[in-house]
Amino acid sequence: MAYTRLSDANEITERYMDSILIGEKLIDSTVADLKISFLGETFDMPVMTPAFSHLSNYNGRQYTGLEEYSIAAAKCNILNFCGMMENDMFKKIADTGAKTVRIVKPYADNGKVRDQLAFAEDAGAFGVGMDIDHIFGEDGYDVVVGEDMACQTMDMLRSYVESTKLPFIVKGVLGVEDAIKCADIGAKAIIVSHHHGRLPYAVPPMKVLPKIKEALDGRDIKIIVDCGISSGADVYKAIALGADAAAVGRSMLPGLESKGVDGVVDFLNGIARELRFIMSSTGFTKPSDIDDSALWIPAE
Ligand SMILES: Cc1cc2nc3c(=O)[nH]c(=O)nc-3n(C[C@H](O)[C@H](O)[C@H](O)COP(=O)(O)O)c2cc1C
Repeated sequence: MAYTRLSDANEITERYMDSILIGEKLIDSTVADLKISFLGETFDMPVMTPAFSHLSNYNGRQYTGLEEYSIAAAKCNILNFCGMMENDMFKKIADTGAKTVRIVKPYADNGKVRDQLAFAEDAGAFGVGMDIDHIFGEDGYDVVVGEDMACQTMDMLRSYVESTKLPFIVKGVLGVEDAIKCADIGAKAIIVSHHHGRLPYAVPPMKVLPKIKEALDGRDIKIIVDCGISSGADVYKAIALGADAAAVGRSMLPGLESKGVDGVVDFLNGIARELRFIMSSTGFTKPSDIDDSALWIPAE
């Protein structure tokens, strides 16, 4: 029963995304450029890797899946993310040269949170953050791979922001109230996400995105979206609805498992090609210009 309900949020999300269609604006249009400026850096496309954890060495290859997709992110010059792991694994990811944001768990052991944030900064991370959507489970506070999670107050989050020179990114925002709190504590970005359907019947991130964008208007905070992103069309819709960029997720896994770094590079380049085609066909020359004027969204 629980499994069925958990998978529902992913299905609801995909159905919602697929219900949004795209019109054309061809006359006077030119070929689009995908480069973005994000938190002071230039990246080659508004696509990011997911904050993954626990990927082993596929097919006995030299590097873990985490390192392989990080190497691919560096090759494609996109922002890289990673999730729950110990410091030695993070060091290996940092050593790939990818510009990486380390998403730390909301550990009950606050010393571990602070240690991992500080280690990431010393190891040369691009940014740090926390996935706040792993605080609760069905039995109270969540336990993730044997580690207790705990409540994170605004004061705690603000203290993490103040503890680091790096941009702090809150992952797992799915409502306007949390989005505003993130801006208030000084986070530099949020990831609008339901963490591949942890919350049964979660609203599709893209559905809540326009409200979050409106609520954060004028605030110094970037918006990333994830969940169900598997194509250039998905990235386009995410940006048109208010995101600055979108992160792929499990859609990256088949290429990663079968062909490692090259599989992920091919997958990301495929997304880029489709995104460029759609942007060019709808009259947008750069990602920051994209708005919802070419979208056909079904009436509620
Ligand atoms: C194998 C695996 C490990 C993950 N580990 C983490 C993690 O440690 N921290 C985190 O914030 N999200 C983690 N996620 C969630 C992803 O970052 C992302 O939010 C989610 O996969 C997006 O949904 P999608 O797969 O439907 O695109 C993990 C997902 C998978 C599939």
